[in-house]
Amino acid sequence: MIERELLMIPGPTNVDPRVLRALCRPPLSHVSIEFAEIFKNALSNLKQVFMTNGEVFAIAGSGTLALEMAIANVVEPGDKVLNCVSGYFGHYFVEISKVFGAVPSVLEVSWGSSIKPEMVEDALRKDNYKAVTVTHVETSTGVANPIKEIGEVVKKYGDTFYIVDTVASLGGMEVRVDDWGIDICASGSQKCIGVPPGLALIAVGRKTLEYLDRRKSTIGTWYGSFKNWLPIMRDPTKYFATPAVNMIYALDESLKLILDEGLEDRFKRHRVMAEAFRAAITALGLRLVAEERYASDTVSAVYYPENVDDGKFRSEMKKCGIIVAGMLGPLRGKGFRVGHMGNVNQNDILSMITAIETSLRKLGHSTELGRGVAAAQEKLVNFT
Ligand SMILES: Cc1ncc(COP(=O)(O)O)c(C=O)c1O
Repeated sequence: MIERELLMIPGPTNVDPRVLRALCRPPLSHVSIEFAEIFKNALSNLKQVFMTNGEVFAIAGSGTLALEMAIANVVEPGDKVLNCVSGYFGHYFVEISKVFGAVPSVLEVSWGSSIKPEMVEDALRKDNYKAVTVTHVETSTGVANPIKEIGEVVKKYGDTFYIVDTVASLGGMEVRVDDWGIDICASGSQKCIGVPPGLALIAVGRKTLEYLDRRKSTIGTWYGSFKNWLPIMRDPTKYFATPAVNMIYALDESLKLILDEGLEDRFKRHRVMAEAFRAAITALGLRLVAEERYASDTVSAVYYPENVDDGKFRSEMKKCGIIVAGMLGPLRGKGFRVGHMGNVNQNDILSMITAIETSLRKLGHSTELGRGVAAAQEKLVNFT
């Protein structure tokens, strides 16, 4: 295995050596005082990252578990759910809603576009919904949906739960759970948080916890029940199911790094890296899937120029030591996706752009070498 490969896919992302070393420590007893202290510290820092005074959960599983827990705990059979879909991952909420017996109404926009608050308002005026689901950064397109503004709309319909997927944004872009009225915020460890895959991270507000006591039907998941995990998140010496001890070490370490950097500085770094990448893409005459005004700071999806083969391009990139991802769903084969998130720095961005130029040239595209790099440098030159 090549240890110097640069992982520029939209998660998992490159993990800091301090976080990797934390993973290697011997597991403590999962109910010991020592481990409880680490877990409590991680959860307290996680609250800062979610910007909430509510409850947070870190459960062994991936981001999909976080999405599933969000729906399973508040949606009951027969409930109407408004699922806002702007790409591949928006559909996850639709499928999960169906599994838990809900009746989904899908508000869908074309890939590359974003959900507009007026669309949500229009739908909520016409019908009563138990919950609205939105994906913040839609990883299949690189679009960032306006979750703050959509939250303002949902807030007007007091009983409706606002459920947001921040798997590809938490820790890289602003997510203010309390200020933006997010009732359940579902995320994961392996993207902007900079931890390997394996933790579902969830923030849950009071409205949701109160609802759990008056819901009519039994929660359709035992492992994923907020009620079962809440006592452990409040006091990790208690037992429900064994937490992923080493992943909690890693989370704790990474959250310290995140808060040491400072959230505002971290968001700025993500914004500048994204702008530099997009400037390079434009300079190379390539096109983003996301309309520019909706482009996220964490993920970009880029169309190939004519006659570039997906497999060949990504294997040329790999020869340069850079791993990028393919497209999903209907865009499969038509372009590549990159993650500029987590620990990403200027070197990563510039190396990736160099590799893109080289790979396109090798595949016969008339790319002027250095053009993308220069455009990115212009954006990076004042960033310290
Ligand atoms: C926006 C979004 N939601 C949900 C998921 C699913 O997360 P996981 O693969 O960790 O289960 C992903 C994964 O890439 C994602 O990008």
